[in-house]
Amino acid sequence: MIDQATIDRIMDAARVEEVIGDYITLKKRGASYTACCPFHNEKTPSFSVSPARGIFKCFGCGKAGNAVTFVMAHENLTYWDALKVVAKKYGIDVKERDLSPEEIRHNNDRESMMITAAYAQDYFTKILRSHVDGKNIGMAYLAERGFTEATIEKFQLGYCLDSRAAFSNTALRDGYKKEFLVKTGLSVERDSGELADRFFGRVIFPIHSISGRVIGFGGRTLRTDKTAPKYVNSPESEIYHKSSSLYGIFFAKKAIMQRDKCFLVEGYTDVISMHQAGIDNVVASSGTSLTADQIRLIKRFTPNVTVLYDGDAAGIKASLRGIDMLLEEGLSVKTLLLPSGEDPDSFARSHSATEFVDFIGAHEEDFISFKTKILLSDSKSDPIKRAEVITDIVRSISVIPEAIPRSVYIRECSKLMDIGEDVLTGEVAKLRRKKLYADAPNAPKPPEPPDAAASPDALHTPPIPAFVENVFCREQERELIYLLLRHGNQSCFGVRVSAYIISEIAGEDLSFQNLEYRQIFEEYRKLLEASETVDNRHFINHPDQKICELAIDLLSEKYTLSKIWKLPDASEVEEDRLRVEVPKAINVYKSKIVTQAIMRLQQGLEGKTDEALDILLLKLGELSKVRTKLSEMLERPVF
Ligand code: CTP
Ligand code: MN
Repeated sequence: MIDQATIDRIMDAARVEEVIGDYITLKKRGASYTACCPFHNEKTPSFSVSPARGIFKCFGCGKAGNAVTFVMAHENLTYWDALKVVAKKYGIDVKERDLSPEEIRHNNDRESMMITAAYAQDYFTKILRSHVDGKNIGMAYLAERGFTEATIEKFQLGYCLDSRAAFSNTALRDGYKKEFLVKTGLSVERDSGELADRFFGRVIFPIHSISGRVIGFGGRTLRTDKTAPKYVNSPESEIYHKSSSLYGIFFAKKAIMQRDKCFLVEGYTDVISMHQAGIDNVVASSGTSLTADQIRLIKRFTPNVTVLYDGDAAGIKASLRGIDMLLEEGLSVKTLLLPSGEDPDSFARSHSATEFVDFIGAHEEDFISFKTKILLSDSKSDPIKRAEVITDIVRSISVIPEAIPRSVYIRECSKLMDIGEDVLTGEVAKLRRKKLYADAPNAPKPPEPPDAAASPDALHTPPIPAFVENVFCREQERELIYLLLRHGNQSCFGVRVSAYIISEIAGEDLSFQNLEYRQIFEEYRKLLEASETVDNRHFINHPDQKICELAIDLLSEKYTLSKIWKLPDASEVEEDRLRVEVPKAINVYKSKIVTQAIMRLQQGLEGKTDEALDILLLKLGELSKVRTKLSEMLERPVF
């Protein structure tokens, strides 16, 4: 851990032109420097470094950042390693925050456990290769399953002898401590105090962390009788958290990034066989349902996931719910149903890589249609079941965070289920609203502008009725974020611009549809709860490159808003302008939402029963009042 004070010190010391100047030749031009961009091919320089703002930006390829993110991108380092490079340049001592004795012990324990696990892996591999039983039993089994020598080596497979404590005794003799043998779960302590091997008589599949260290094991029995469990796995420990690990992630991460896609399978052998067949962007959830942590792990590398199902999996229906979580995390999910009787392991072994890839190309389908078909085929003509299916699908769609894919799915399902798009849209909106309230029953109220009572009319933009769903309006969201970042700490109406914007927007249950804008907005709001002003460096130096680039984009001089002029320096004049422009930006944003809502309602008027029509008309009436108010405030018609 590098502590925040040290990070601040590094950031303060780092002169962006000096750091970048170590890598490329910069030419001074006025207050800034230029160069040919190191991140894309160009002949005329469009890469610019601004010492005053501590940032760089390429107007050709759009890449932007600060001294640290430059080093990150240029040297392909993590944020923390890049920080250390910069620290070194300025002679800043990076004491990884002084650890408490408790933390030191914890770290030492973890390290000792990792070392013990690495030792065990090496031991099991050696047994597999050189012990007579390893060769005749373990290796014979793996070979019979069709694993090649290269595969066995890559995945560091092994064998644990079928004897009570062969491994534990050797480990003790080699100086490994009982404590760590037990803590890693490699050994089990008996009442007598003696150790026994957890994995005896099993083929060993080491489980690797994302950086490739062994953190746990799966051991497969070689018996065919059903008395012993097929797999025994390492227990939870300080180094192995089953719920946040994915089998194969270390071997797959590069391919996942390159192909921008991740295959998700169930088991160890599925991962290994697919690798062997040449499909290496694959990980396994190891037989349990997916967890949020596992999903986030995938999301670090790609938003595209394809879930592979066995051809006859009885468990498909049971697993569908787990897939909703993938959707909820904003991933784009596809499914692949293998032919009857096949699992990824057997299919990979009986087909060539090209055949497998072709099969995927031909049979992959998006998750919602897949689910709809599976459930519908079950319900046939039973209307009650059909209604349940619709509810179920609507629930799946409603968890998708982005509006556009939501509406695409609604259209798709409306066809598949032969039900009106507007009905589905309405149901999805209802669920989303419900969830919003359920998630945040006591969410902190946004700050009230202190002089709200003084001139309430000039101040308050009209509220949006609760039944309105948000729409995608990138431009308007961008303007609001721009104002937040650029002018948040200034004031208008005697309140801070930031507090004003947040109280006007956050009160409405309307969260931004663009994920980056939403993140900035939410983080800004949190920061504002802790202190009165927000330091933009939080965003400029943000570890998430996307956020950092966006903030720099908005704050860099070249970016000017379509409708906002360059603000003069005189702060009074500026405050006058903010008093006009800030509510305007909010009202324009709200107008966009309201007009879209009105349009949608109007489209839904046709062919409605009287009762439904009444409700629609009521909503329309309410919305047009808001629209009138908005156009009064904007002094122009809103449509
Ligand atoms: N699993 C487990 N414990 C079990 C059974 C299964 O931990 N008793 C986990 C393992 O991670 C396994 C995955 O669930 O890899 C999938 O189970 P299964 O399909 O039964 O095993 P495979 O990996 O396909 O093994 P094999 O092909 O050897 O049957
Ligand atoms: Mn299998």
